[in-house]
Amino acid sequence: MKAAYFTATGGPEVIRFGSVPLPALAPGSVLVRVTAAAVDHVDTFVRAGSYTTNLVFPQVPGRDVVGTVAQLGPDVPEGPAGFHIGDPVWANSMGFDGRPGTAAQFTAVPADRLYHLPTGLNADGGDAVAVAAVLHSAATAHLALHRHAQLQAGETVYIGGAAGGVGTAALVQAVRAGARAITSSSAADVERCLSLGASAALDYRSEGFAEELHEAVGSVSDGWGLDVHLETSGRHRLGLAVELLALRGRIIAMSGMSGQDSVPLGRLYTKDGSIRGFAISNATVADLAAAAEAVNELLRDGSLHARNVTVLPLSGAADAHTALEAGTVHGKIVLVPEAD
Ligand SMILES: NC(=O)c1ccc[n+]([C@@H]2O[C@H](COP(=O)([O-])OP(=O)(O)OC[C@H]3O[C@@H](n4cnc5c(N)ncnc54)[C@H](OP(=O)(O)O)[C@@H]3O)[C@@H](O)[C@H]2O)c1
Repeated sequence: MKAAYFTATGGPEVIRFGSVPLPALAPGSVLVRVTAAAVDHVDTFVRAGSYTTNLVFPQVPGRDVVGTVAQLGPDVPEGPAGFHIGDPVWANSMGFDGRPGTAAQFTAVPADRLYHLPTGLNADGGDAVAVAAVLHSAATAHLALHRHAQLQAGETVYIGGAAGGVGTAALVQAVRAGARAITSSSAADVERCLSLGASAALDYRSEGFAEELHEAVGSVSDGWGLDVHLETSGRHRLGLAVELLALRGRIIAMSGMSGQDSVPLGRLYTKDGSIRGFAISNATVADLAAAAEAVNELLRDGSLHARNVTVLPLSGAADAHTALEAGTVHGKIVLVPEAD
């Protein structure tokens, strides 16, 4: 098959495009014909070797995939709840820990990591691209807010970088859960955040950002503070986060691979506050399945929309990694296989 692949970790230039063997179909795995594969920040960490994981060279990069079932391996459950040839499916935990990636014509997905697309959505064309563009962000936001932060209705959550992939998905899900959201984004995205249900939306470049956030937290939470602090931009201000935290508030650390911010520990523990690290790479199969159920519900409702989706052929994988690392992608890149 044709695929993007790398044979050693390194810069984006280690990614080649060419012919590689079809992935082996182990017991319990399903061969998926890829129609769309997203490019996520984490793919660049895996390729660079900054996120250490078991790679099998030639390693195909890519976590997320939308496609159709092409072949069932031994011991894959069939029947009404199982998989059938041609089923439209998706997965979002490929390309690391010994699993093949998705920037290829085919990938082999363990059946317990593969999910059906909701009825009415196709695994081809625009649907495939639109779905692939939101999978990783939406599942991450679900696990961050619900599994790790245990967000409750009526609570106040700060979402930093709310116009980004994870940030937007978190905003949509927080509002849906009945929480009050305060966001930060570029000035140009403030209206978008408000239209998605933010109670207050701040410009992260504003000189008076800290004071504006103080004010917003005071008015939105009636003086109580932040129950949950979720910074998705990778630019942390933990001192400010701890200062604004409510009693038993939870700070979720999930972005900023090279972050070195210090924490005012006394202020944190005297509020019974906590900082909880989270990486979706460590999510169990059960956690991922729970997230998939939530993502499918949001897809069914049409609540998830990636902005500025760029579609590239699989052969553009190296360029996609270069652009992502340069910080020039204000949206999502989705790879699609070249026509035969
Ligand atoms: N822990 C996990 O499991 C996990 C999973 C997925 C992603 N992540 C990480 O989460 C981060 C976000 O991922 P993503 O896919 O959502 O990326 P993204 O779509 O590129 O979004 C990042 C957002 O941050 C905004 N931003 C940049 N500087 C900012 C600042 N100083 N203050 C506030 N916002 C700022 C950007 O705004 P502009 O639009 O103005 O550029 C952009 O909207 C990445 O670091 C990624 O590695 C972690």
